[in-house]
Amino acid sequence: MAIKRSWAEPYKIKMVEPVYITTEAHREKVLAEAGYNTFLLRSEDVYIDLLTDSGTSAMSDRQWAGLMMGDEAYAGSRNFYHLEETIQKYYSYKYIVPTHQGRGAEHILSQILISKGDYLPGNMYFTTTKLHQELAGGTFVDVIVDEAHDSESLFKFKGNVDLNKLEALIDKVGANKIPYVCIATTVNMAGGQPISMANLKQVRELTSKHGIKIIHDMTRVAENAFMIQQNEAGYQDKSVAEIVYEICALTDGATMSAKKDAMVNIGGFLAVNDPDLFDKARNMVVVYEGLHTYGGMAGRDMEALAIGITESVQDAHIRARVGQVKYLGEQLLKTGVPIVKPIGTHGVFLDAKKFLPHISQDKFPAQTLAAEIYLDSGVRAMERGVVSSGRNAETGQHNFPKLELVRLTIPRRVYTQAHMDVIAESVSNVYERRDSIKGMKMIYEPEYLRFFQARFEKL
Ligand code: F0G
Repeated sequence: MAIKRSWAEPYKIKMVEPVYITTEAHREKVLAEAGYNTFLLRSEDVYIDLLTDSGTSAMSDRQWAGLMMGDEAYAGSRNFYHLEETIQKYYSYKYIVPTHQGRGAEHILSQILISKGDYLPGNMYFTTTKLHQELAGGTFVDVIVDEAHDSESLFKFKGNVDLNKLEALIDKVGANKIPYVCIATTVNMAGGQPISMANLKQVRELTSKHGIKIIHDMTRVAENAFMIQQNEAGYQDKSVAEIVYEICALTDGATMSAKKDAMVNIGGFLAVNDPDLFDKARNMVVVYEGLHTYGGMAGRDMEALAIGITESVQDAHIRARVGQVKYLGEQLLKTGVPIVKPIGTHGVFLDAKKFLPHISQDKFPAQTLAAEIYLDSGVRAMERGVVSSGRNAETGQHNFPKLELVRLTIPRRVYTQAHMDVIAESVSNVYERRDSIKGMKMIYEPEYLRFFQARFEKL
């Protein structure tokens, strides 16, 4: 019989940061002051912070040591060359342009590749990615498989592209109107769902036939690779690092928010293989971010990132990271809380339509649920539903996505299993009293990415 070995964190804790639980009366007050938007809360009023896994992970002792090795030269920093080598080695891309974070890379890429009237197919969208496509004159087209929009479907690769949808778009608008297909690993808005290698290979084949590029949103590529190792035939004996490399090598370039997988507090990059494209990107980065050997980052941050990349692809690390998210998801399933299945890799996504079926989508069930969870325990989550989806540019109406979710996002290497238990208790507690919860109305709506700064009132 095989010996059972549970996942456990492949590290021990050397430094701690205290967290405090507040009173319910205090939470009620600060939540109202924040317009019932968890983005507008102060972090000191939060007990367990599951707003995002972006920039919130714990760096290792090696990464902190890397900060001391910062070469803060304006041009040609040693840390840039270390980062460049690391990206070439683990991610296969030839040329890199550092940026302050993912959206800096998205901005540059969109300005270079997209012309007015172009179409940008993708395996669902990410908020900032889609906005930059639109600001450059393009139109996003969702070509993800239908299963991705169904929180109950147990399909293991909900990040897959529906090739029929992609082919139909190419037939309809013509390949010359499609500068690239955006492939995200994993798909954040679908609930942290992976794409399979087999599907990515088919996308490669189809796009190559039409001369269309693949741009890889590689924010959580190591997590995606782990799911391929676990669930796709032929990958059980490959390391996460090997699978990550194989994914990247199937694509033409990438935008990276290094604040996720790569476990730094700030940073990102644009990576490409085409020298002409690199030339353009390298020129544009000096306008918006900084010189091409630092982009938006300090030397020390590039060093911490280079080290973070090497740590992010280690099997023991990723097994514990995804294992912890799965543990939380399983605790919630035990009490009947409706979540997106299969459990995602960077967080557990609550299905707010099923959690609060009596609140219609125009009364913001996910926004309401995130506020109620904060009120219950000081756990901060994030809306991923109608508020995040914004409005239709032509009709001005809300986009009503099928998935109306609250994301409990787990930072890497930050919280313990006991924290997961407390989170599950709190969400289950809110679920018990769900019938008494009422929806909200929006009283302030900013023009761009409204979910960050919108304000609400209880109905
Ligand atoms: N792509 C994906 C899939 C992301 O999840 C994010 C950020 C970005 C691009 C943009 O990167 O924030 O560094 O500018 N996601 C964060 C989140 C904000 O909370 O999921 P960024």
